[in-house]
Amino acid sequence: MDFEERITASNLNEEEEVMELSLRPKRLLEYIGQKSVTENLKVFIEAAQIRKEPLDHVLFYGPPGLGKTTLAGIIANELGVDLRITSGPAIARAGDLAAILTNLNDHDVLFIDEIHRLNRSVEEVLYSAMEDYALDIIIGKGPSARSIRLDLSKFTLIGATTRAGSLSAPLRDRFGVVSKFEMYSVDELKEIIKRSSELLNIGIDEDSTTEMARRSRGTPRVANRLLKRVRDFSQVKGSGVIDMDITNKTLHSLGIDKKGLEGLDREILKVIIERFNGGPVGIDTISAAIGEERITIEDAYEPYLIQAGFLHRTQKGRIASDLAYKHLGIENHKDEQLSLK
Ligand SMILES: Nc1ncnc2c1ncn2[C@@H]1O[C@H](COP(=O)(O)OP(=O)(O)O)[C@@H](O)[C@H]1O
Ligand SMILES: [Mg+2]
Repeated sequence: MDFEERITASNLNEEEEVMELSLRPKRLLEYIGQKSVTENLKVFIEAAQIRKEPLDHVLFYGPPGLGKTTLAGIIANELGVDLRITSGPAIARAGDLAAILTNLNDHDVLFIDEIHRLNRSVEEVLYSAMEDYALDIIIGKGPSARSIRLDLSKFTLIGATTRAGSLSAPLRDRFGVVSKFEMYSVDELKEIIKRSSELLNIGIDEDSTTEMARRSRGTPRVANRLLKRVRDFSQVKGSGVIDMDITNKTLHSLGIDKKGLEGLDREILKVIIERFNGGPVGIDTISAAIGEERITIEDAYEPYLIQAGFLHRTQKGRIASDLAYKHLGIENHKDEQLSLK
């Protein structure tokens, strides 16, 4: 299967971008779940508006597809300000960032996705911009060089990252609000699927909704992808309304099992169990064994495998849990408790 075809793929194709745009909630009220993140933000947004000050800089972290970009857009909407979207890898030089920053108006939101991928020289420009709303620019060269300070509008930076650990301490410390995104419950995913199916004008029964929610890896993006695939199947093969028969057929054809694992998830577990006796085994070894980049495994696959209890991450490496053996139908001759020590 192509990487882009995978249900876990974190990059979007063009068609999907259009779909994500149309399904993206625009206001806080429409945003389902992540209550611990949104309840706090609601207070901060109101407080900032009452004080007529910019919202504090906000950092969102968590696995892909959990609603970080969506919530950044909602914050700008709730504040009634403009949103400027960019990403770490897109800002190559300090000058690029300076150009973006000098074009912002008071209280505007600048969203930097994959902020852990900013290069150092760009990051350093961000420090004074975040702290003092100012840019320090060096003019000239050699002994006659001097630094001038340029004032910026009082903006809000929202950074998003899948790996908070990769952020440098000085950058992390400049965020007033740091929010961790959690995976969604089945009930929350059901709500999301219902909302999306209404927006896309798709008929779907309750059982199918539940089944899809269960197999969405706790991730709204995956839920929406499944919904779209199931709709394709129902239009080609079925009555047009999504029922369990069509749902099961689609999930089966996508290689998604009862627990929501797809081919590569099972491959990761299988490699650990069959080639490394259940672990512990280092992530680089797993990555080499299955021929998949370490970052992809860590960001897109592991979070759900860990959350669902199939994988443990320890100092010595990854360990397949008892549940993983059971799920794959492989007998476990190892004492899991022992190996966890
Ligand atoms: N809380 C939510 N409620 C409803 N839909 C959501 C929610 N979070 C995410 N989504 C849906 O999932 C898609 C992916 O979310 P996105 O914000 O792009 O995730 P991230 O930026 O964390 O990778 C969005 O297009 C949106 O349709
Ligand atoms: Mg995003």
